[in-house]
Amino acid sequence: MLVLGIETTCDETAAAVVRRSGEGPGEVLSNVVRAQFEAHAAFGGVVPEIAARAHIDALDGVVAKALADAGVTLDALDGVAAAAGPGLVGGVIVGLTSGKALALVADKPFSAVNHLEAHALTARLTDGVAFPYLLLLASGGHTQLLAVLGVGRYLRLGTTLDDALGEAFDKVAKMLGLGYPGGPQVELRAASGDPARFAFPRPMHGRAEPNFSLSGLKTAVRLEAERTAPLNETDVDDLCAGFQAAVVDVVANRARAGARAFAERFGAPSALVVAGGVAANGPIRQALQGLAGDLGVPMVAPPLALCGDNGAMIAWAGAERLALGLVDDLDFAPRPRWPL
Ligand code: KG4
Ligand code: ZN
Repeated sequence: MLVLGIETTCDETAAAVVRRSGEGPGEVLSNVVRAQFEAHAAFGGVVPEIAARAHIDALDGVVAKALADAGVTLDALDGVAAAAGPGLVGGVIVGLTSGKALALVADKPFSAVNHLEAHALTARLTDGVAFPYLLLLASGGHTQLLAVLGVGRYLRLGTTLDDALGEAFDKVAKMLGLGYPGGPQVELRAASGDPARFAFPRPMHGRAEPNFSLSGLKTAVRLEAERTAPLNETDVDDLCAGFQAAVVDVVANRARAGARAFAERFGAPSALVVAGGVAANGPIRQALQGLAGDLGVPMVAPPLALCGDNGAMIAWAGAERLALGLVDDLDFAPRPRWPL
């Protein structure tokens, strides 16, 4: 089954062609991502109106390149998938409408994909992970521990009470003048910093419910930054290192609580999976690797190109749904909010 996937929910215009041939991993035939970082950099975050216009400008070219890179025509496809939310509604409309139009003209089944479900199922595309598995979904807008029981079957074990993990990285980067998106910058600066110089809190540590809270940690970084100002390069490195060390401890502790909650209901998971943009973070991956070792299950993290937003994950989620006979109507409405 050959599916084209389109992603436009935030600040990446992306399209990809993926092949699914039964259970087991899929095959990414092309994966084109055009980031809009420069368009938003001056504002320190994504500006919805600018994002929607940039998607309009880029999408036709991105889709054409995805088909060309894969060496296929629209006719060869078995379906077209587009992210229908959650996300910035202007961008969602652009990708969703294009996906529907392509499905209509090529007379192919259409799949309206939940962007979070696409992140959640990426481990099946890359590694063929079997259900059920424990998932940490950590992006700029979402932080959830989920039991992934099947396609369309998700149980939320825990979530963040305030900021998302990626959002905390982005806000810390912004207050330290490091630009957007903040995660990669903070990770880079942390690598040459001293994580022990500043003592930051580990919110929710030891609690049984696998929830997160990050705003107190973010505020602690801001207060230390204000106390230490004017900041030199070493100060920034050390603040990043201290912040990231706290986040790594929190993630490991909260994921451990998630594993306990999972085991109580469903027994042993087939894997511990991490997905979403924050899954690109090396020290977070290492901490989860350690936890997976303790649990005696494999840790699965997508390759970096599939951690951030991309079209391959949308195409794959569409393929998984179409394989189950789940086809969506062409009047499927965009969903700015769409919890799993
Ligand atoms: O999944 P994603 O690409 O978009 C959303 O759906 O939000 O995630 C983007 C988020 C941003 O907050 C970004 O700062 C964060 O992922 N991120 C990272 C790293 N790379 C991206 N956070 C920590 N460390 C990284 N290396
Ligand atoms: Zn995402």
